Amino acid sequence: NKYQKGVKHLCDNGLTKVPTKYIWPEPDRPIFTKSDKLTKPKQNLKLPIIDFNELLGPNRSHVLRTIAEACETYGFFQVVNHGMEGDVSRNMIEVCKKFFELPYEERSKYMTSDMSAPVRYGTSFNQNKDNVFCWRDFLKLYAHPLPDYLPYWPSSPSDFRSLAATYATETKEMFEMMVKAIMESLEIDGDDNEAAKELKEGSQMVVVNCYPPCPEPELTLGMPPHSDYGFLTLLLQDDVEGLQILYRDEWVTIDPIPGSFVINVGDHLEIFSNGRYKSVLHRVLVNSTKPRISVASLHSFPLTSVVKPSPKLIDEHNPSQYMDTDFATFLQYISTREPKWKNFLESRK
Ligand code: SIN
Ligand code: FE2
Repeated sequence: NKYQKGVKHLCDNGLTKVPTKYIWPEPDRPIFTKSDKLTKPKQNLKLPIIDFNELLGPNRSHVLRTIAEACETYGFFQVVNHGMEGDVSRNMIEVCKKFFELPYEERSKYMTSDMSAPVRYGTSFNQNKDNVFCWRDFLKLYAHPLPDYLPYWPSSPSDFRSLAATYATETKEMFEMMVKAIMESLEIDGDDNEAAKELKEGSQMVVVNCYPPCPEPELTLGMPPHSDYGFLTLLLQDDVEGLQILYRDEWVTIDPIPGSFVINVGDHLEIFSNGRYKSVLHRVLVNSTKPRISVASLHSFPLTSVVKPSPKLIDEHNPSQYMDTDFATFLQYISTREPKWKNFLESRK
């Protein structure tokens, strides 16, 4: 079907209405008025902000408590002073923008339904299953171990590979610092820790999302409600808002802070923390004027690991809330169901 070619392709020919394929059932739609303004007074959520400089200074234990509270309450927090130079993140956004501006023929070289392909270009959320499509095109890059995958990454734009490689490497470093902090926030020794070692060897996937302007943003979604399947996701957004998280049964928008990262708890961490930290549903809205680019780095346990609550958090008073699961089984599960992963987690309690 023609929608498989993606939203960018669709928009290139000019569009004044959203095709039926992208129109979500009314209860799932965002609430907008005609002028693109939310009808309710706009209340964007101020997520807790973690300052890496403070995390590495004398205030560490206080910052660790803030991380714990954020993971319990929102499943999300933002980080600033994270050590990545502004140029690295800006260059990444810019080169990704250029990638999506390449002719369709160039981008479509990377289209495949093979989920294990080192590079996958596509559209919507799960384009082979979605009944209603999302207003989103994506490029997914496996990124760890980098030398195994880098030769397959797009060679156009010409500086894509080098800029994206730097970005992926530095994100991985940030992830490892975050894992240590998360472990400590759960009162698990961050240095002598099997899970942390496994995560170091685990998978990293860089997902670049492109949301072109949409003529009728009130009818569709950039991404449907979902939780992330990995351990942690590190998200870089440009200056256009769109990400919403479910907080107290309401969708709240996350204000982008330029140069910051949004970090969220994935399903693996919810399981690992035995339910103390929450893998929270989130979705993406689009708008009628500004294209939006985001880059998510998803970090997971290796495919062969058994994902289970940390033995350090389990005792007779705190029984395990989850069945052990391996990643392969989990991935198979999510590729055969509707995107309601939460039900899966719930059913395992
Ligand atoms: C996501 O990774 O869930 C989407 C993030 C975004 O585009 O803000
Ligand atoms: Fe996500």
